[in-house]
Amino acid sequence: MSKYNAHLQEVYPVLPFEPVKGDGVFLKDEKNKKVLDLYGGHAVTCLGYNHKKLITAITNQAKNLLFQSNAVIMKSRDDAATKLAEFSPKNLNKVFFVNSGAEANENAIRIALQLTGRKKIIAIENAFHGRTAAAGAVTWGSQKKWYGFPSTPMKVEFIPRNDIDSLKKAVDKDTAAVIIEPIQGVAGAYKFSNEFINSIQHQCKKNKTLLIFDEVQTGMGRLGVPFGADYFQVTPDLLTVAKSLAGGLPCGAVIMKEKIIKNLGAGSLGTTFGGGPLSSVAISAVIDTIIDDNLMDNINSVSKYLFSTCKIDPVIDIQGAGFLIGLKTKIPANVLRDKLLKKNIMTGTSSDPNILRLLPPYILEKSHIEILSSALKEINNE
Ligand SMILES: Cc1ncc(COP(=O)(O)O)c(C=O)c1O
Repeated sequence: MSKYNAHLQEVYPVLPFEPVKGDGVFLKDEKNKKVLDLYGGHAVTCLGYNHKKLITAITNQAKNLLFQSNAVIMKSRDDAATKLAEFSPKNLNKVFFVNSGAEANENAIRIALQLTGRKKIIAIENAFHGRTAAAGAVTWGSQKKWYGFPSTPMKVEFIPRNDIDSLKKAVDKDTAAVIIEPIQGVAGAYKFSNEFINSIQHQCKKNKTLLIFDEVQTGMGRLGVPFGADYFQVTPDLLTVAKSLAGGLPCGAVIMKEKIIKNLGAGSLGTTFGGGPLSSVAISAVIDTIIDDNLMDNINSVSKYLFSTCKIDPVIDIQGAGFLIGLKTKIPANVLRDKLLKKNIMTGTSSDPNILRLLPPYILEKSHIEILSSALKEINNE
């Protein structure tokens, strides 16, 4: 029997677990089986489940005003934009809200092409930026797998990871933007060298090319600092964010340097749902909680504990930073994911068949890491 009902198109392989409730870092099924969630619904549930401040903010807003569009002034949207700009690197101070990571990247790429009048985008091998036309075009391997359009909306050139010579050759006066995830998420928490990130910034400045950081997965505190831009101390011209942004409601944003987008007037960008009141109050609650509860300090100390205690066979190495973690596995990552799920721990795979991905909620504690290390020891002894 299919795991799907008759009407839902099967586009994802699904895990044999159906959560109906969540509390803190745990999910429960109908029979009350408790599963430790180290994957956070693809990096979305950054405050875990049933978080009082987030749920209260959403519930109150839903009762007062469920929706209104960008055609009216809305304090909740203004507040969210202010908090997000203040949370972002200095100079990134203009926010355009959308609904997803792909949509944020689609807009960032369009803005770069429009503002520069150039035709080419440079992307990095193994990158993932989403499944829409422009975001798919800069996603490595998508053309073969699922891109599906007859042509890309702009010229795209991929360069190998950390290859500074290729970078220098590729970025030229026809390059509108370089797009990069500071740490590649779907690829398995792959961290670039500082030299590579710095060279990208240098080449962009030299050629008046815009730098886009796709922080859909790395952003919102996940690396133990607000953004990958802070982690590498490089400020891009445009930064995209989604996933953890509203802690579980669908939303995304393009955060831009005011200086570069001043020529982009009213009417250049648009969305119906982006910046709606529900996501706006959720964004504010997420940012307030990350700051007030010192969640980035928690990420740093719990992540350090994981890196030092979880290299247990079949895990042979650990990469990434903060709570964007890749466990390199001796056995196929999907086999380890299934074994861990049998021990009531949810993890995720990546595009690297030997890297298991962890994207846990920011409230995870050291005791939860011990649940993982014990499970790995048991698996090693089986
Ligand atoms: C780095 C990155 N960019 C963009 C996306 C696409 O985001 P969405 O699925 O919200 O469109 C993802 C999704 O995994 C991502 O990891």
